[in-house]
Amino acid sequence: MDGFQEKLAATAGRIGSALDALLVLEPRQGEIARPERLMAAMRHGALNGGKRLRPFLVLESAALFGTGENDAMPAALALECVHCYSLIHDDLPAMDDDDLRRGQPTVHKAFDEATAILAGDGLLTLAFELLGSEACHRDAAVRSDLVVELAKAAGLGGMVGGQMFDLQAAQDSPDEAAIGTLQAMKTGALLRFACEAGAMLGGASPAERVTLRTFGEKIGQAFQLADDILDVVSDEAAMGKRVGKDEAMGKGTLVGILGLEEARRRADRLVGEAEALLSGFGHRADVLKGCARYIVSRQQ
Ligand code: IPE
Ligand code: IPE
Ligand code: MG
Ligand code: MG
Ligand code: MG
Repeated sequence: MDGFQEKLAATAGRIGSALDALLVLEPRQGEIARPERLMAAMRHGALNGGKRLRPFLVLESAALFGTGENDAMPAALALECVHCYSLIHDDLPAMDDDDLRRGQPTVHKAFDEATAILAGDGLLTLAFELLGSEACHRDAAVRSDLVVELAKAAGLGGMVGGQMFDLQAAQDSPDEAAIGTLQAMKTGALLRFACEAGAMLGGASPAERVTLRTFGEKIGQAFQLADDILDVVSDEAAMGKRVGKDEAMGKGTLVGILGLEEARRRADRLVGEAEALLSGFGHRADVLKGCARYIVSRQQ
């Protein structure tokens, strides 16, 4: 899609501003006080120039069903908070032990480990406050549905569970099917939620909701394939994070099993399948289709 990256960058700017306004020192009603150092660490982890793909997908999926950006923003921010928390914890010495994220020192480097753990906890908790608050959606049943679906996508049977499989992969040498499961969980589940959440916010029919969910699953798989390919072919300056670490850490990836060319073919095939799912929406789905293409063509 022409101009996709400009559109993503403009929306990312608005998402960043909205996060900036949330992460302030002034306590909200019902809170007691906000520690300045924790606030600063949360800001470091959340306002450091991510691509904002997941909240972008929430906003665009919601737009497909007629929900405006401001109305979809709280759910979009909630998802980005969970994602940023997952990165802060993923980079910790006990996990991937990385010093660089989004071109800056990781949170435990800029602060300290204990503060980084708490910053992640703070962002995760904030996400559920955002989803449960009235501004998220006028219908309490929709809010509760979003809370439950994000908890499933982020928790034991989703991202956190996938991170556990990922840690074990260094010893277990998982086969292709097991890697598929690991990736659907550690990365796919949040991207799937992004697309389904938009459908939920916009009051999509059950069938449309399944379509968006399946679209999210496909681009989630493609996303992690692209991340693993970039880990092999890209460099630290372009990625803003260390590369070459999957092989160095003995992480099972599909690139390791399939080789680069077949991994690229798979990623392209998945994007084609994802685009085809949206054919019934005509040109209204062009931005989402553009996003699917971008996920595998990105250099960062
Ligand atoms: C990186 O996600 C972590 C993975 C799930 C592979 P992104 O590539 O979306 O990271 P940011 O948010 O743009 O930094
Ligand atoms: C991270 O996967 C997935 C989550 C944070 C849930 P990676 O460990 O491959 O991500 P990068 O490469 O550090 O961004
Ligand atoms: Mg990791
Ligand atoms: Mg990592
Ligand atoms: Mg990676």
